[in-house]
Amino acid sequence: VSRDDPKQAVKVLVTGAAGQIGYAIVAMIARGQMLGPDQPVVLHMLDLPRAADALNGVRMELIDAALPLLRGVVATSDEAEAFKGVNVAILIGGWPRKEGMKRKDLIVKNVPIYKSQASALQQHAAPNCKVLVVANPANTNALVLKEFAGGIPAKNITCLTRLDHNRALGQVAEKLNVPVGDVKNAIIWGNHSSTQFPDASHATVRTELGERPVKELVADEKWLREEFVSTVQQRGAAVIKARKLSSSLSAASAACDHIRDWVLGTPKGTWVSMGVCSDGSYGIPEGTFFSFPVTCDKGEWSIVQGLQIDDFARSKMEASASELKEEKAVAINIL
Ligand code: LMR
Repeated sequence: VSRDDPKQAVKVLVTGAAGQIGYAIVAMIARGQMLGPDQPVVLHMLDLPRAADALNGVRMELIDAALPLLRGVVATSDEAEAFKGVNVAILIGGWPRKEGMKRKDLIVKNVPIYKSQASALQQHAAPNCKVLVVANPANTNALVLKEFAGGIPAKNITCLTRLDHNRALGQVAEKLNVPVGDVKNAIIWGNHSSTQFPDASHATVRTELGERPVKELVADEKWLREEFVSTVQQRGAAVIKARKLSSSLSAASAACDHIRDWVLGTPKGTWVSMGVCSDGSYGIPEGTFFSFPVTCDKGEWSIVQGLQIDDFARSKMEASASELKEEKAVAINIL
């Protein structure tokens, strides 16, 4: 703790830190984009032994960037050292999707990794550690963490659908030719997969005449139900096709948004999408890791209640819930 900054540094773990998302996110975290401009951080970076040189290079660059909020860097391939005492864990490590694969094709490779990370979390992380799973299949990896990291409360384990949420805001902003910061309250329901349901029926745009519903401004029901939905569902694949690599800067940015809103709170009147353990809200089976609209306050998320769900939305949500049930069965089979 330095003279002019009484705030204790927060320890943030990034797994897969030598990868593309890792490279983008560590700079964002160390610049205060995740925990705020006055919050010092210590970065714990984990990657596989074969990436040790690359990881050390990232560590060197972080030092070279002379970032005032960065109070320490641990770069290691040892899980125990990486997870030790961390307050926030961003779990990116795992096999990435390549062109032609579905996200759930990664279950066989990534679910066993998440079982082992569950025990590292339970044994070494701070007991109140907030966990965000980014690696695919994100919802099912989060479920595996919950099952095998008994010491970490289920409410502290989440998965990333903020990327899809931000993609939805981006599509609406492009369609209406408005600044994306004026669009809010889109919803991603379900799995971070092509069965997710991007829902703009409650979204609004800030205009000179106050907030107006997106569905009124777009006035194209077909676009909202078809093109908008499939563009957001398929966006990850479209980026992979274009870059030959999966989304990285947008994934890193979304992960920062997710943790920032969770820790520092959502603005009044705004909700965001997070993959969380269902409490049965909206008829989604309890214990399913499902993306819901949430608001956050004092470090806790709560699912937005009482939204109208029409038959179209209901059938989309059920399809995603049943895909998650199938993924769970496959995961159990593997483990
Ligand atoms: C994404 O949504 O971009 C990531 O989940 C990568 C992928 O496989 O689509």
